Amino acid sequence: MLLEIDDLAVEVGNKEILSDIHLYIDEGETHVLLGPNGSGKSTLFMAILGFPKYEVTRGKIIFKGEDITHMDTAERVKMGIGVSFQNPPAIRGVKLNDLLKIENQKEIKEDLSPEIKNLATELKFDDKFLERDVNLGFSGGEVKRSEILQLLAQNPDFIMFDEPDSGVDIENVELLAKKMNNLLDKDMKPGLRKTSGLIITHLGYILNFVQADTGHVLMDGKIACSGNPMEILEDIRKEGFRGCVECCNPIH
Ligand SMILES: Nc1ncnc2c1ncn2[C@@H]1O[C@H](COP(=O)(O)OP(=O)(O)OP(=O)(O)O)[C@@H](O)[C@H]1O
Ligand SMILES: [Mg+2]
Repeated sequence: MLLEIDDLAVEVGNKEILSDIHLYIDEGETHVLLGPNGSGKSTLFMAILGFPKYEVTRGKIIFKGEDITHMDTAERVKMGIGVSFQNPPAIRGVKLNDLLKIENQKEIKEDLSPEIKNLATELKFDDKFLERDVNLGFSGGEVKRSEILQLLAQNPDFIMFDEPDSGVDIENVELLAKKMNNLLDKDMKPGLRKTSGLIITHLGYILNFVQADTGHVLMDGKIACSGNPMEILEDIRKEGFRGCVECCNPIH
């Protein structure tokens, strides 16, 4: 198992947001996490990433066989966890170009590798754009494309995408999905894939372009249902989140 989450409970600002979370993601698998607004999806994302204000009060997170529950975020990233944030902050004074070099494990004074430059071009960023401060004044679509470009530079083993398609137009969703498929080794046969992913989405639109192996529905801070992602999505469309969860046998 690449990522193993056992009986996790998480508090934010002394309020319990998540409890009884069990989640197991194997090497090469893509899981999708669905759930209504405020159900705790981003909280789970931040807890796995290890942001200090997301306090784990019970349970543990195991990554690559190592207990990372109380490890700091930088160490988790070094171990191979990568993320695309729902709303990443702007970083004044840090050029996208320089951030990409660090993510690609290069010195700032070196040139960006030709490979990353090509990827930037494919993601519609020219040299002038790469000189801009990270996320400062970027449009919604530019922010999402920049997040994916950074992941391509970092090449992580486990990637969490928080709402990768929100605020993105159809052409750009297809472009992002293509790169997400590259990141998640979708061009290889399932048994040969190495990189794993967790895609967080409330609309599920991205699943038309990126295939997931397993789906989970988060309701009120608990995983209420797991199973075939497309079937779950269809149930949600027909019955709404509550209806979907009611007809699903709770697994934990
Ligand atoms: N600092 C905080 N103090 C108190 N409650 C918080 C804090 N941060 C988050 N919450 C609450 O935790 C709950 C879960 O929020 P979270 O952002 O994880 O939801 P989400 O499922 O990602 O929603 P969305 O689909 O809107 O992105 C919300 O009710 C939110 O208000
Ligand atoms: Mg969220």
